[in-house]
Amino acid sequence: MRKKVVIASNNAHKIAEIKSALDFEGWEYCTLKEAGVDSEPEEDAATFEGNARIKARAAHEATGLAALADDSGLVVDALGGRPGIYSARYAGAGCSNDENNTKLLGELESVADADRTARFVCTLVFIDEAGAETVAEGTIEGFIAHGLSGRQGFGYDPLFLPCVLKGKRTLAEVAQDEKNAISHRGNALRSLREKISAQALCAEGACEETRA
Ligand code: IMP
Repeated sequence: MRKKVVIASNNAHKIAEIKSALDFEGWEYCTLKEAGVDSEPEEDAATFEGNARIKARAAHEATGLAALADDSGLVVDALGGRPGIYSARYAGAGCSNDENNTKLLGELESVADADRTARFVCTLVFIDEAGAETVAEGTIEGFIAHGLSGRQGFGYDPLFLPCVLKGKRTLAEVAQDEKNAISHRGNALRSLREKISAQALCAEGACEETRA
């Protein structure tokens, strides 16, 4: 069965990653722009999940299609979880990645290595054609470096040392495929894929057969 899903984002990188992670047979994706929607809702919830839900619901309501949205950010323990949902505009409205990274380094200047723990979080909200919701979350644990390293990726990647890379390389020092395999967004997409696959199997009666 063909299914059209609108991705509530105009970020080409995210769209490509979603398409490759959720390559279910018969699923077709379009962007908000392709679906003829040019307005974006205000993301004024207090959580990543709340903001992803606002974007997914708005896209579903505007198009009548199944919709998928994500919200993500960096949670730094020594800053009580900041910048969190404000990661994009940590250094002020319209600020650059460089300005965010400079502010983060400044705020952590006197924080010892052992206390520089942090994680990226990504929450995905998928709403099917009938309005039913599936939520998935992914994280990647790590810590904040004392200076920038690497030129790949975006955002806080040059400051983020993932534990899974033994703290030897930042996320900006790994190729995109390697990042997808360990990242918060990659983990959230893999979790969502499993949940949707399980729902499809149940809908086909597999749950009943197993119980019988
Ligand atoms: P959004 O979910 O695209 O709005 O992302 C919010 C902000 O979180 C971005 O602007 C980045 O500052 C930060 N962020 C989210 N994911 C990543 C990532 O994979 N690497 C680096 N920064 C990220």
